[in-house]
Amino acid sequence: MQLLDGKTTAAALKQEIAQEVQQMKEAGMKIPHLAAILVGNDGASETYVNSKERDCHEVGMQSTVLRFPDSITEAELLQKVTEINQNKDIDGLIVQMPLPKHINEQRIIEAIDPRKDVDGFHPLNVGRMVTGLPTYVSATPDGIMEILSRYNIETAGKHCVIIGRSNIVGRPMANLLSQKSTPGDCTVTICHSRTKDIKSYCLQADIIIAALGKPEFLTGDMVREGAIVIDVGITRIPANNKSGFKLAGDVKFDEVAPKCSHITPVPGGVGPMTRVSLLKNTLKAAKNLVYS
Ligand code: GUN
Repeated sequence: MQLLDGKTTAAALKQEIAQEVQQMKEAGMKIPHLAAILVGNDGASETYVNSKERDCHEVGMQSTVLRFPDSITEAELLQKVTEINQNKDIDGLIVQMPLPKHINEQRIIEAIDPRKDVDGFHPLNVGRMVTGLPTYVSATPDGIMEILSRYNIETAGKHCVIIGRSNIVGRPMANLLSQKSTPGDCTVTICHSRTKDIKSYCLQADIIIAALGKPEFLTGDMVREGAIVIDVGITRIPANNKSGFKLAGDVKFDEVAPKCSHITPVPGGVGPMTRVSLLKNTLKAAKNLVYS
């Protein structure tokens, strides 16, 4: 069994990005600038945005976090998005989700200039991804493609079972892995909450991507010998430590790992790759690589 080490892989990729930013600086170019909007004071969102800001600084990018109270109206938030769209100094914009219930998230996503949509959530960018055009691929699917690529995992002709059909992981993942590309060329099955007998599909899988958000859902009896398992789950579960929680994956690691040819751990697997994908997209935005 080989561990797919997202921490080390992400660190290498980050180093490459830092070098590119340094070269841009030396060439007298503007350094890439990511703006993040954070509404309210959700603990997890706060942590994510702080990490994104730290990541930017570590690779030499500029980062701006705009914080607003829960009481901001949808109209006010749309206005902020418009201002950032028009700000030539800012290359990429993310609006941290979830937003308060009185704000329509889709309306906010669609207000972001697709050229600055480094989350890859705008329908135009999703459509470009589906048709195989240059785009911003959302961070988790992009991170998974990158780790498969960097470990030279052969995917062509393989049967990939994806558990979960979310807009930000399951469905884009299915799309990317079924494309004529490397990684890609897979035969893909998407399983979800209404699938009958998920185990029977998993037992036919060469590659399993667990992205349903249920801690330890994938157990040893659901995986065949030699499978490749990618664990996207990062659920906070209560723990007796300083933070009061620990991160649990969607895979029962101790049971599944011995059967696998490759597996991502949690933490230290998909998570760090996801974070670095946002930096990749911000660099792409600064260099105008998608809509050139
Ligand atoms: N909330 C959880 N994950 C994400 C993400 O990747 N981007 C944004 N904007 N919000 C999130």
